[in-house]
Amino acid sequence: MDNINREYIDSYINGLIKEDDEKLNKFREYCEERNLPIIHKEVGQFIKLVIKLLNAKNIIEIGTNVGYSAIFMSKAMNDEGRVVTFERSEKFYREALKNIMDFGLEDKIRVCFGDAVDKLDEIEGCFDLAFIDAAKSYYRVFFDKCLKMMKPGGIILSDNVLYQGMIATDDLVVRRKKTLVRNLRDYLKYISHDERFVTSVLPLGDGLAVTLIK
Ligand SMILES: C[S@@+](CC[C@H](N)C(=O)[O-])C[C@H]1O[C@@H](n2cnc3c(N)ncnc32)[C@H](O)[C@@H]1O
Repeated sequence: MDNINREYIDSYINGLIKEDDEKLNKFREYCEERNLPIIHKEVGQFIKLVIKLLNAKNIIEIGTNVGYSAIFMSKAMNDEGRVVTFERSEKFYREALKNIMDFGLEDKIRVCFGDAVDKLDEIEGCFDLAFIDAAKSYYRVFFDKCLKMMKPGGIILSDNVLYQGMIATDDLVVRRKKTLVRNLRDYLKYISHDERFVTSVLPLGDGLAVTLIK
C-alpha cells in the first residue's frame, strides 16, 4: 500500500499491461522477490510510451540499482538507442554490469559508478529523456544538471515524487522524513512553476512527474 492509489485500481491497470518478454519478466520477479526498489510496472509502461513518442535515442538515468529500468528502457528503444546510468553503490553497480551483460546490452547501456551529484559534471551528451530515480533530497541538483544536457522538447521524468502520499498531506508525514518531504515539495513547486518547463504530476506508482523542456 503506497497511499497513492487504491490497490484494486493499481492491480487492474497492471493487469492490462502486456508482458511478452519472458526474460525481462523473470528479472522483474527476481528483483521483486529481493524487495529491490525497481520501477512500478505501470511506471515502466508509461516510460515505454514516452520513449516511443519521443523516438528517444539517448536516455540518461540517475539511479541504476541492479539495472532493471536501464535494461527495460534499452529494450523499449530501437537499435541505435543508448542509455547512460549512474549508481553510487558499488555492490549494485557490479550487479547491474553483470545483469546488463546477461541481457547482451553492454554496448547500449553505460553504467557510471559514483555519486551522480559529482559524476553528472563529467558527462557530455544531448538527451531526449532523463529518468531521475535516486536520492530524493537531490532531485533539484539532478534535474538542473540533466537540464543542461537536454534537447529542446525533451522530457525529464522524476519518480517517487508523491512519496507514499507524504508530499500531499502532513497527516502522513513521519518525523524522520520531514527534510525529504520539504525538499520534494520545493522540487515539485520548482518544476511546476518555472516558465522553461511544462510539468504534470501523475499519481502513477509512487508519483511520477513528467516535465517537458520547452
Ligand atoms: C530506486 S533505486 C533505482 C531503481 C532503478 N531505477 C530501477 O527501477 O531498476 C535508486 C538507486 O539510486 C542509487 N542512488 C541514490 N542516490 C544516488 C546518487 N546520488 N548517485 C548515484 N546513485 C544514487 C541507490 O544506490 C539505488 O540503487
